[in-house]
Amino acid sequence: MSDPINVVVTGAAGQIAYSLLYQLAAGSVFGPNQPINLRLLDIPVMLGVLSGVVMELEDLALPLLREVIPTADPVEAFKDVAAAFLVGAMPRKEGMERKDLLAANVEIFKVQGEALDKHARKDVKVLVVGNPANTNALICSHYAPTIPKQNFTAMTRLDQNRAQAALASRLGVQVDKVKNVIIWGNHSSTQYPDASHAIVTLKSGTKPVPAAVNNNGWLDTTFVETIQKRGAAVISARKMSSAMSAAKAAGDHMRDWWMGTKPGEWVSMGVLSDGSYGIPKDIVFSFPVNIQNGQYKIVQGLSISDVARSKLTVTSNELQEERAEANNVLQKK
Ligand code: NAI
Repeated sequence: MSDPINVVVTGAAGQIAYSLLYQLAAGSVFGPNQPINLRLLDIPVMLGVLSGVVMELEDLALPLLREVIPTADPVEAFKDVAAAFLVGAMPRKEGMERKDLLAANVEIFKVQGEALDKHARKDVKVLVVGNPANTNALICSHYAPTIPKQNFTAMTRLDQNRAQAALASRLGVQVDKVKNVIIWGNHSSTQYPDASHAIVTLKSGTKPVPAAVNNNGWLDTTFVETIQKRGAAVISARKMSSAMSAAKAAGDHMRDWWMGTKPGEWVSMGVLSDGSYGIPKDIVFSFPVNIQNGQYKIVQGLSISDVARSKLTVTSNELQEERAEANNVLQKK
């Protein structure tokens, strides 16, 4: 058994955290030999609800879970954390414009970035789930200058999982037979789910997904739009946003970052752009990455078709607009 690590979950009284916390306590993310101390951050008005979550965590009776601290104080929450799940964010309310949402979130992620900078481990792995996740991650890293920028990531794994499941369903195979589908760009409806480099294992052997599907029209339109609008479809049916699947995806993202990816396989993560594939630098953009020894590398050399290029431009333009709006808010402060 290793020594326990401190792990913080923000938005800990919310619905994603409710599913995520079990995975963390059960060892599905950091492994069966890694005990954890949980730091649960929420806003003061939610501390009552949070105390119920703490009771349930206790009642799980799971040996990997050591200390649990519920708090509304970012300093206490971020102390010596090795991994941070930033789930809590200001939800979009009726009539709220995107810039109002950004303004509310800029403030939250500034405070949390500063607290991470002062109190977290310098090798902390930060996963931002709360929306707008990519731009929130950018802001957070900006306010944590002593932590390497590559330690800040945004979640597009739910989109990847949705895309993988949709392709498996179309091809009539088990979901784990489909690999290397990519989510490019923003975790928003401009994201580009790209199956052109994906592979599928069939009874006859491994094939490129485009050849197995044999319908580029479907891959370029219906498939892309279904994934882009999947979050909205869940909200319309459930009257609440995706939570069980979002929590599973957050666990997948952090587990792969912690443990690594298999040879020849990649996963999608929102990471600070280094200019790969002609994407502007200094936005948090979802790329395919390989991970080894806790470090990810953007997969290089994939071909980009004209259709793909136009979609990458749309989503990178949106991220540049979000960054400009966030900077506007910050300059007014
Ligand atoms: P929720 O509303 O159930 O929970 C959010 C929690 O965050 C609440 O308990 C709230 O009090 C807390 N919170 C608000 N401000 C906070 C702050 N400053 N510090 C700490 N906690 C704070 O929401 P849910 O369903 O758990 O979703 C959380 C976020 O995740 C939302 O922004 C949602 O849009 C986003 N999301 C992202 C996905 C992705 O793929 N990146 C997928 C699904 C949801």
